[in-house]
Amino acid sequence: MYTLPSLTVQRPVRSIAIMTSGGDAPGMNPAIRGVVRAALHQGIEVFGINRGYSGLISDDMAPMSSSSVSNIVQRGGTILKSDRCEAFKKPEVRSSAADILKARGIDALVVIGGDGSLTGAHLFQQETGIEVIGLPGTIDNDIFGTDDTIGFDTAVNTALEAIDRIRDTASSHERHFLVEVMGRASGFIAIHVGMAAGAEMILVPERAIEISRISEELAAARRAGTGSSGIIVVAEGPEPGLTYRLAEQLKEHGQDPRVCILGHIQRGGSPTGHDRVLATCMGAMAVSYLCAGYSDIMVGVRDGQIIDVPLEDVIRFRKGLDPTLLELALQVHR
Ligand code: F6P
Repeated sequence: MYTLPSLTVQRPVRSIAIMTSGGDAPGMNPAIRGVVRAALHQGIEVFGINRGYSGLISDDMAPMSSSSVSNIVQRGGTILKSDRCEAFKKPEVRSSAADILKARGIDALVVIGGDGSLTGAHLFQQETGIEVIGLPGTIDNDIFGTDDTIGFDTAVNTALEAIDRIRDTASSHERHFLVEVMGRASGFIAIHVGMAAGAEMILVPERAIEISRISEELAAARRAGTGSSGIIVVAEGPEPGLTYRLAEQLKEHGQDPRVCILGHIQRGGSPTGHDRVLATCMGAMAVSYLCAGYSDIMVGVRDGQIIDVPLEDVIRFRKGLDPTLLELALQVHR
């Protein structure tokens, strides 16, 4: 459970818009619901923007009522749809987007998304003066200033369930599997899933991969009778096809691993209870922060406390993977 800051209403907010942007994440729907219900409770009108920034720049939005968000708390994906919008990277496009919101009398924008979406939100606020509040919505958990992001817990549990199944067949055939999880720039999913699944190895973008060492470790474990089968969790990394390339290289070293790419399975499905509560608290608090006079911030969580983090910091700093966590995950399975 989370500790919430005590905030008092400092300014009138008449009308807000909400969008989901970037890769969808399980928990975006409960976050939308949290924003909409909290705003309506304060007498604030809410517009739902379809398809993220693409919908904003084409004025694709509609008013939302309490019933617009009924029966969505358990649904994966996002009822508002999502998009990665290249056009919004241009200042002139952001300027005409602000005109659209002003013409509709909308005071503020709530953006639920990952680092690219939050970067867009910060630039939008800086350049146009439209108030923005960001919520960290990404399965990757790679957002600076928050311990947790909406969707991470669900993605980890989805990948974990798949790996538990793969272990059955790995064990029956005495094989090793390279299981690729999402995470282009960071290994947060890999390390959590790897630890929870008791993976024999975890390969993350934060650490160089040495094929000869991996191969020697697999061969040594076979010789010692301690590792006829196993799971190697691989974070996808920046270049597509990494895991297939690793499998080929391991074959050249005499190993015969199988590859399983979990891919977008990790982005779908019903959000866990953890993600629903996190998303609901963050969504409702986004409205409280706005009414309390905050803007250009992301709602985050640190040590169980809901906090505000300047968007400037969110986009300037990188959240690092704790190397001791990786060591610990590997130690306990050797
Ligand atoms: O940022 C979320 C994420 O799922 C990453 O883990 C992954 O690398 C990327 O999105 C995939 O994006 P797309 O669905 O656009 O291919």
